[in-house]
Amino acid sequence: MMNLSHKLTHPVFQIVSDLCEKHSIEAYVIGGFVRDLVIDRQSKDIDIVTTGSGLELAGMVAKAYGKGIKVHYFKNFGTAQIRFPNADDWDIEFVGARKESYNRHSRKPIVEDGTLEDDQKRRDFTINALALSLMPENFGSMVDPFNGLKDIEQKIIRTPLDPMITFSDDPLRMMRAIRFATQLDFTIEDKTYEGIRKNTERLSIVSMERVSDELNKIMMAKKPSRGFRLLRSTGLLTLILPELENLAGIETRGKKAHKDNFKHTLEVLDNIAPNTNNLWLRWAALLHDIAKPETKRFDPKQGWTFHGHEVLGARAVKKIFRKLKLPQNEKMKYVEKLVLLHLRPIALIEDYVTDSAVRRLLFEASNDIEDLMTLAEADITSKNHEKVRRFKSNFKQVKQKLIEVEEKDRLRNWQPPISGEMIMEIFDIKPSQEVGIIKNTIREAILDCKIDNTYEDAYQVMLKKAEELGLKPV
Ligand code: CTP
Repeated sequence: MMNLSHKLTHPVFQIVSDLCEKHSIEAYVIGGFVRDLVIDRQSKDIDIVTTGSGLELAGMVAKAYGKGIKVHYFKNFGTAQIRFPNADDWDIEFVGARKESYNRHSRKPIVEDGTLEDDQKRRDFTINALALSLMPENFGSMVDPFNGLKDIEQKIIRTPLDPMITFSDDPLRMMRAIRFATQLDFTIEDKTYEGIRKNTERLSIVSMERVSDELNKIMMAKKPSRGFRLLRSTGLLTLILPELENLAGIETRGKKAHKDNFKHTLEVLDNIAPNTNNLWLRWAALLHDIAKPETKRFDPKQGWTFHGHEVLGARAVKKIFRKLKLPQNEKMKYVEKLVLLHLRPIALIEDYVTDSAVRRLLFEASNDIEDLMTLAEADITSKNHEKVRRFKSNFKQVKQKLIEVEEKDRLRNWQPPISGEMIMEIFDIKPSQEVGIIKNTIREAILDCKIDNTYEDAYQVMLKKAEELGLKPV
């Protein structure tokens, strides 16, 4: 039998072990922590299950630890959590072993005391049902009634019970199955996969926040496309993000076909993954072409076009974020902005790159220019390797140009030399449309390189525009 006592180095395990002996109780470390020990992943969340009372055990452990340790009791759930003074420290939770049964319309289980095995079989996957004994007589030995170790070895996600029961008990587990398969590069075993397909509708009883948490974890995996393919093939994607599913498919007219934008989007997401751990930049990659279906047209000369998909796409971000209960704050604004601007760096490749086009992009992207470039570069996908190579090499030149213009003009966070307040003071006017018109005219003249970025030049432009508007300086 496998024994992992050498890996149980955290002091809490010895403390619990001593208490087991002293009070003749059983305790085990269980779940994700054990799985992560076996596969050598870092984890700071320890779950300890006891055949006695979890609340009492937590109290005794805190006492043995001494000062500064607090216990938080969640009496409704029968769990207790030990908190160390340091916020980024370990999270240790205690619970009594339980048997649970569920009502079809609610996620709230009816809980009764149970044995360790009862507790293990109510868990989601065999790889998450592993337990290590903390009793002194067999400290560290593995209790694995559902062959979770073998499943780890063979890289398989499988439910301990009939998947119909496991998924119906807690439909979030369908998302978790796909999330683990994506994070760990595991395969979902056939019956488990079928169980997901048959229970997709049950996802509706799960809160959107929890669904999105899983979605975000899929997004942060090394190769997120796997998760999205599984979401699609199981039927979950239609329920969560139908807009993404709508990107799939190819239409052909004569000899002209457009690319499958679902495939393309996933390729972009995989491309960007090694270059950023910014979840929101990855979201921008996922949503960059989201409005292509609405904007799709066929033009006999140009072939397929998607004019304006970046504008409609940026608008769709808000709707999607609201529905998925993702943050409605500056993170969302950032995703909107990147979706709106995603074509611009590539457009610079195609056109002759003028200083004013680069200036404009720097001004609009501001501090997000690097992220926009990362997105645009990931967006270069084609079956034609030569085309990709050529694009990437041209892209390098655009990057170089950006650096040069940036050094010369410092346009990031740039403000025109004459502000709205100054205009109001010079003409003695209140906030009004005229102030906006004058401000815009100055900004555009500078961005178009029609005048220098100086107070004097801006002043002249201001006077001229003001005169047209019937204003005179006081
Ligand atoms: N669990 C479950 N069903 C769920 C959630 C959790 O059976 N819907 C069980 C699993 O045994 C899991 C344990 O509770 O291992 C702890 O859950 P959690 O901390 O959410 O996940 P981990 O498996 O630890 O994975 P991660 O930390 O990556 O989220």
